[in-house]
Amino acid sequence: MMSNPIVLVVGAAGRFAGLLVPELVRRGATVRALVRNDANAAVARRAGAAEVALGDLRDARSLEAAARGVHGVFHIGPAFAPDESELGLRMVDTARRAGARRFVFSSVMHPTNGRLGTHAMKQPVEEALFGSGLQYTILQPTNFYQNIEAAWPAVLAHGVFAEPFAKSANVARIDYRDVAEVAAKALTEDHLAYGTFELCGEEKLTREDIVAIMGEVLGRPIAAAEPSFEEWRTMANPPYDERQLGSLANIFAYYNEHGVRGNSTVLRTLLGRSPRTMRAYVGELARSR
Ligand SMILES: NC(=O)c1ccc[n+]([C@@H]2O[C@H](COP(=O)([O-])OP(=O)(O)OC[C@H]3O[C@@H](n4cnc5c(N)ncnc54)[C@H](OP(=O)(O)O)[C@@H]3O)[C@@H](O)[C@H]2O)c1
Repeated sequence: MMSNPIVLVVGAAGRFAGLLVPELVRRGATVRALVRNDANAAVARRAGAAEVALGDLRDARSLEAAARGVHGVFHIGPAFAPDESELGLRMVDTARRAGARRFVFSSVMHPTNGRLGTHAMKQPVEEALFGSGLQYTILQPTNFYQNIEAAWPAVLAHGVFAEPFAKSANVARIDYRDVAEVAAKALTEDHLAYGTFELCGEEKLTREDIVAIMGEVLGRPIAAAEPSFEEWRTMANPPYDERQLGSLANIFAYYNEHGVRGNSTVLRTLLGRSPRTMRAYVGELARSR
């Protein structure tokens, strides 16, 4: 890859893709943030984006303008969007027609698991990349540590960490900053082209294990709760409509029944170090409040 590439970052003001922006800047890339409004343009600029493209994944013309002259594209699909596959396909096609060389797609672990409908929505995008002529890198991360941030105020206030599935379920997790680091390498170096990588942290933690870590960090006991999905949604108030909540409930029901297991060898190899740990993440949460 050339030095100082221009990279279009979808979701650059968001809580996940936003973590990629400083990683790219550190590697000498020029970040062009795709954002939907001026407030998010300011968020992306504060994170280090040098350029801003106002646009929408559902507006083909705005995407064409946003992709003009870029060397690489980072794409992450909006969570539980009914047209997520279509939006991804449009972004791949736009990147190809704009003459971009590199495309990194933040997909999900186990996109072939038909029991997880929203996972399967990433499959057409992966398939389109294989035949696109782009130098693609597909990242398949498991559940993000950063989801825990929304539950942290309740942990502090009530001493309880609640998720609507069994506290003994083993759910593989990852710090999205590790995903962002791999994505930045894929967009600025050559050796990750044409790779599809399952990304998963090293620890195999249940929620019982996580509350033990929280307890040690905070110096007081924290309990692991198992609310029903209805109880949880009332407490957590996630920013989703009924259809999206149905998709999320389906994922939690799967976690409850089977958990999610993944392998961390690829992540460790790509990072060239140990993946970030849950203890370090919880420590940062504790220091930030
Ligand atoms: N959470 C997990 O544990 C997990 C694990 C594996 C994979 N994933 C996948 O990660 C993805 C991201 O989840 P998220 O949406 O919660 O992340 P997010 O980082 O909040 O990303 C959403 C971003 O995309 C932007 N966006 C949404 N719709 C858009 C549109 N039509 N045009 C342009 N930009 C748009 C949003 O901008 P605005 O601020 O303007 O809305 C926001 O910045 C999902 O595909 C999910 O399946 C999640």
